[in-house]
Amino acid sequence: MLQYNLHDFDQWRSTARQLCRRDIAPNQVQLLTRTQTGLFAEVSVDASTDAVANNELKLENSQAEPQAFNVPKAFLSLAEEVGYHRDADRWNLLYRVLWRLTHGEPQLMQLSTDDDIHRLIQMEKAVRRDAHKMKAFVRFREVKHDGCAYFIAWHRPDHLIVRKVAPFFSRRFKAMNWTILTKDESVSWDQRELKYFEGVDRSAAPNADELEELWCTYYANIYNPARIKLKAMKAEMPVRHWSTMPETKIIEQMLQDAPARVLQMLVHSEGYEQSARDFLPDPATPLSLESLASAVKNCRACDLYCHATQAVFGHGPADARIVLVGEQPGDQEDLVGLPFVGPAGEVLSEALMAAGIDRSQLYVTNTVKHFKFERQGKHRLHKRPDAREIRACRPWFEAEWSQLNAHALVCLGATAATALIAPGFRIQKQRGQWTASQFCDHTMATWHPSSILRLPDPVQRQARMQELINDLRQVKLTVG
Ligand code: URA
Ligand code: SF4
Repeated sequence: MLQYNLHDFDQWRSTARQLCRRDIAPNQVQLLTRTQTGLFAEVSVDASTDAVANNELKLENSQAEPQAFNVPKAFLSLAEEVGYHRDADRWNLLYRVLWRLTHGEPQLMQLSTDDDIHRLIQMEKAVRRDAHKMKAFVRFREVKHDGCAYFIAWHRPDHLIVRKVAPFFSRRFKAMNWTILTKDESVSWDQRELKYFEGVDRSAAPNADELEELWCTYYANIYNPARIKLKAMKAEMPVRHWSTMPETKIIEQMLQDAPARVLQMLVHSEGYEQSARDFLPDPATPLSLESLASAVKNCRACDLYCHATQAVFGHGPADARIVLVGEQPGDQEDLVGLPFVGPAGEVLSEALMAAGIDRSQLYVTNTVKHFKFERQGKHRLHKRPDAREIRACRPWFEAEWSQLNAHALVCLGATAATALIAPGFRIQKQRGQWTASQFCDHTMATWHPSSILRLPDPVQRQARMQELINDLRQVKLTVG
């Protein structure tokens, strides 16, 4: 029986490919994981120096045509995820499925009831869930060394996901020196590259530091809505995490404390830009407008959430043919939680009615989901969102759009038009014309209803209203 020690997915892939080409059936080979090498050390060969590998290399170099075979992409991406699973049998299972795919069962991936496929899917889910948890629950502690600050965390993932998740942390904490220790494998980031080294025991991580509370606040407030609800937290978090989670005690207080200091630290770290991407629903759960509307409530990707009452998500049927996008919620919208319900909403409703469009059939949303304002006495005056806020918020619209099946996208005003059509879009010149955007072949921008309200001259107001109505009529004619 052939035996191989495999370190990672890439090694599995090249080894499996070679074995398959040489027609070595799954029952003739054992693919072991690195952790089993002690047990089999005398008999096993390392895949990178193995004779089969060398032979195959020669074959490929000497231009001999290796026997070609096709593997569905879906299998490869599933296999890559499964490669992070802790199950010691994963490489054998993957090879068996590869073998079956290339030996008379090319449709195997579609058979989710097949035992092997079912197992692979479950394993992939477990890996994704674990990666999501690692992103949410890793807490760094600060250690000073030679005047430099280092951040250290110890985490206990269920699976071997350090290499899967490390790039996320290197993007998020780009301008910090940090290390994440796990008992299987550890990783460090020195602001330039990720370095992997062996796992360590829990005792190697420092126990107390001044940043602890900040990290608690940060994670509990901005990361994962489930953590704010104690019940949900308990259901979601394996109990072993609790011993290292002092924030459970201070949760009430944390909810009142804005995590501004920690956010500042992140926002000011060089090259780091917060994005709503980090607040989208768990990718392991099915995406829907409902899950998005619920996740947006916890978005902290820009400062606007601090002063607004609530995030205002899009509203309307998921099968709407037309999607309208405004700028951001106004005073009324912020209080009610729905888009275009204030004075601008009234103008919009009137224009839609005049154009013969039933508003209840539309999906209406905004470019930015939180209300930005300036206080003036009792009033909250609308302030334009800036470019960074618009960029930060964009993933919400992208995700929303992905859940819709609309035939036309209508941008109301310059903010939506420049964000969604083109940065140089000129509303005065280009409104009322169909254009293709990255979202939709039928995209049009027209006047924002508020811009009508702001015109001091009633004649001008009337004229602009008529233009808005005409533009909406055209939308109705084309896709209504
Ligand atoms: N203005 C907008 O752009 N959107 C709203 O929801 C309300 C006013
Ligand atoms: Fe998030 Fe957008 Fe609100 Fe900023 S405005 S916090 S990006 S939802």
